[in-house]
Amino acid sequence: MSQSLNYAFIGCGMMGHEHLRNLALIEGSNITAILEPDAAMRASAAKLAPKAHFATDLDAMLARSDIDAWVITTPNYQHADQLKQLFAQSQRPILVEKPACTDPADILALHTLAAKHPSPVWVAMEYRYMPPIAALRAQVAGHALGAVTMLTIREHRFPFLEKVNDWNRFNRNSGGTLVEKCCHFFDLMRLLLHDEAVRVYASGGIDVNHLDERYDGETPDILDNAYVIVDFASGKRAMLELCMFAEGSRYQEEISVVGSAAKVECQIPGPGRFWPTATLGPAPIPQITLSPRHPQGPQLQEIPVDETLLAAGDHNGSTYYQHVGFRHAILEGSPVEVSMNDGLRAVALGMAAQASIEQGCAMRMTDDGFSFVAA
Ligand SMILES: NC(=O)c1ccc[n+]([C@@H]2O[C@H](COP(=O)([O-])OP(=O)(O)OC[C@H]3O[C@@H](n4cnc5c(N)ncnc54)[C@H](O)[C@@H]3O)[C@@H](O)[C@H]2O)c1
Repeated sequence: MSQSLNYAFIGCGMMGHEHLRNLALIEGSNITAILEPDAAMRASAAKLAPKAHFATDLDAMLARSDIDAWVITTPNYQHADQLKQLFAQSQRPILVEKPACTDPADILALHTLAAKHPSPVWVAMEYRYMPPIAALRAQVAGHALGAVTMLTIREHRFPFLEKVNDWNRFNRNSGGTLVEKCCHFFDLMRLLLHDEAVRVYASGGIDVNHLDERYDGETPDILDNAYVIVDFASGKRAMLELCMFAEGSRYQEEISVVGSAAKVECQIPGPGRFWPTATLGPAPIPQITLSPRHPQGPQLQEIPVDETLLAAGDHNGSTYYQHVGFRHAILEGSPVEVSMNDGLRAVALGMAAQASIEQGCAMRMTDDGFSFVAA
């Protein structure tokens, strides 16, 4: 019988539901409390977590004695304040959805508070755990590539989905597209290159999506396409190409890492629920290709994702693997794999990229990696 852990959710919308479905696959996971102001989300969350108590505010949640770990899945702009309240009033482990914050002024404070927290604090950057990305990481960690020099991440996907109260339509709520979703990719850059960024240059715009939408008369201001170039301390370089009106693609993410001896690529499809199986047949399977220079000859390998995990979310099984890691960190003291330091550095890179576009110049990261100035 597995040791049981009682989770409490702060916010339980689309991503909260994905966390609930994945925790349901991990024996010993109980959902004891959920704070969710939206009635429709409460109703559907109750079907996934029938034993959960629905609280009316965070103070009432904090008064409960049946919570072993917190999961924050509220809109981005709320994370920093909710984290600060948990740091002040609870000693329990915390898993917070990315981005950890949306205001540069919160970065150092959260870093300090997380470092003092007596139990694991984990930022949900689960792209690391997608099986094809895990396979890519293994290749990069091996010797096949030689000296790694270049990393390119291309994401060609569907536009931002509709969210509760449309919070994701404005930079002030999400932190901006390059913070909101692309912090995942800046995290991958740091992880794959084992290095820290020193300079960021970006070009981006709002050219296709959301232009006809109005919210209380206001037009969304979120980027729908961008290029970002990141220079790393050792001289390695990375590039992100983001396009959010390209869901016709076979693969959503295409990542390549090139070294002196070989290149490795991985190709990852988007959420299976968006693939038109009726006309195109089964959804594409993730794949990884190793292409040595000598002797030439690309070696392609399919990396299928377990069907149960695919059905539990939109992220190729990664939310499941992340929760397994979080559980081990809580129960066995294994290391936190995505720390607040990682989460905040990825956010700072996204903020630097947003600032680069707004100011029309490159940004130099400061030595601590948490802020930036015009280069
Ligand atoms: N890791 C990933 O790949 C990934 C993917 C999608 C979303 N996310 C993140 O998950 C978070 C939630 O996004 P989503 O897509 O689920 O949005 P959503 O709008 O579907 O869900 C947010 C939920 O929070 C609730 N909420 C709002 N204010 C609240 C409050 N004060 N207290 C408690 N609940 C509150 C809303 O009613 C809503 O149900 C965001 O931070 C987003 O960036 C991460």
